[in-house]
Amino acid sequence: MLSYPKISIVAAALLAHSVAAQFVSAPKDLTKKEGHAGVNVRYKEVPPGICEQDPNVKSYSGYADVEENEHIFCHQLFIDQPATTGLSYTIPIPAYQDNDGYIIQLPDETCPGYAQAYGTCGTYSKSNVALVPNSTAGAAPNMWKTLQGFMGAFPQYSRNGLNFATESYGGHYGPVFNDYFLEQNAKRIPGSIPIELENVLIGNGWYDPLIQYQAYYNFSIFPGNTYDYDPYNASVKAEWYNNLYGEGNCVDQTLQCYATGRDDVCSGADNFCADKVESLYDNYSGRDEYDVRELTPDPFPYEFYVDYLNRPDIQAAIGAYQNFSEYSYTVGNGFGSTGDDDRESGTIQDVRRLLEAGVQVTMYFGDA
Ligand SMILES: *[C@@H]1O[C@H](CO)[C@@H](O)[C@H](O)[C@H]1NC(C)=O
Ligand SMILES: *[C@@H]1O[C@H](CO)[C@@H](O)[C@H](O)[C@H]1NC(C)=O
Ligand SMILES: *[C@@H]1O[C@H](CO)[C@@H](O)[C@H](O)[C@H]1NC(C)=O
Ligand SMILES: *[C@@H]1O[C@H](CO)[C@@H](O)[C@H](O)[C@H]1NC(C)=O
Ligand SMILES: *[C@@H]1O[C@H](CO)[C@@H](O)[C@H](O)[C@H]1NC(C)=O
Repeated sequence: MLSYPKISIVAAALLAHSVAAQFVSAPKDLTKKEGHAGVNVRYKEVPPGICEQDPNVKSYSGYADVEENEHIFCHQLFIDQPATTGLSYTIPIPAYQDNDGYIIQLPDETCPGYAQAYGTCGTYSKSNVALVPNSTAGAAPNMWKTLQGFMGAFPQYSRNGLNFATESYGGHYGPVFNDYFLEQNAKRIPGSIPIELENVLIGNGWYDPLIQYQAYYNFSIFPGNTYDYDPYNASVKAEWYNNLYGEGNCVDQTLQCYATGRDDVCSGADNFCADKVESLYDNYSGRDEYDVRELTPDPFPYEFYVDYLNRPDIQAAIGAYQNFSEYSYTVGNGFGSTGDDDRESGTIQDVRRLLEAGVQVTMYFGDA
């Protein structure tokens, strides 16, 4: 008789524990250091076996606190940006993500039945678009601050210049961020240190949507691709051509975006081009956009790393304070509202400026 209440208390405690365990607790073992430009960094040394198998290789991870509510996560220097992507957070909340990608805040760290059905309960950033940048140029300052924080906290790893590697949307980020670094260097802001940029590497970059939306057609139909892969019938080809070049369609709308610079025009143009040009490749080729050799859905690259980064022991080992998100709808909505994806954003001029400043820029492309 007497043991019943005890058992039920233990059971309730276990239940509460296992429910609360779906959320990430605040890391308690981070060391705080003031970096350059007044940016604080909170970091820890990551135990061997997590990021690096060799116990003689040190690895660190943690956050650069670039704004009151923007905390940028690095591995060594794998930077998850803007905040809300990867492990970088704005304001951590208990939440779940529904099938449309919405982050839905929960009242407390309990995963109720209706949320359990999605299997996505966790700690996410508040889905407040005002807390994140909405353009490539808007994202540059926090990237600079993250580097200032890192370089101040780890001068021993910041002596020999910086090599910046990026891909895909990195065709925007790479040129624009690095040109911003050069501008910041020139300002000689007290308390900051210059970023000695050496190389910028960009793989399969998205630079100029006017040219690159057309390239979907060129690669697929005329002059075609190196695999002579041509599964499209005449009707699909005619539709594709018209969606690009027909009056008022993708090319015209993108030119309007370039001419006006208006958020609504660029945003509308990008939605049109993505749905009516890019998606024809996705819908009719049956092939991966990044690797034409692979059928869709392409299992590569494997997604196991997402599950790995969402394990409590790994989160604790690297000092993470939100669940890992491969894609942030908050940032997606912000960038979508300005049509950033349909803008050239000075990327080509910025590459030119980097070259003039003596920075080596390596652009590499491939269909496999
Ligand atoms: C791309 O396709 C368009 C439309 O057919 C054509 O006018 C243009 O010459 C092509 N560009 C290249 C580089 O093949
Ligand atoms: C052309 O291909 C599309 C997509 O597979 C298909 O829906 C359509 O019926 C085909 N049209 C003709 C005329 O074969
Ligand atoms: C391609 O497929 C997507 C998803 O099914 C659909 O929303 C889109 O309208 C399709 N695009 C075209 C041009 O058929
Ligand atoms: C979020 O992290 C918690 C704590 O480690 C984990 O239990 C939960 O499964 C994670 N959620 C997701 C969706 O990965
Ligand atoms: C994008 O962000 C800037 C800076 O916060 C803001 O002034 C602008 O109104 C935002 N644009 C849109 C379309 O929300």
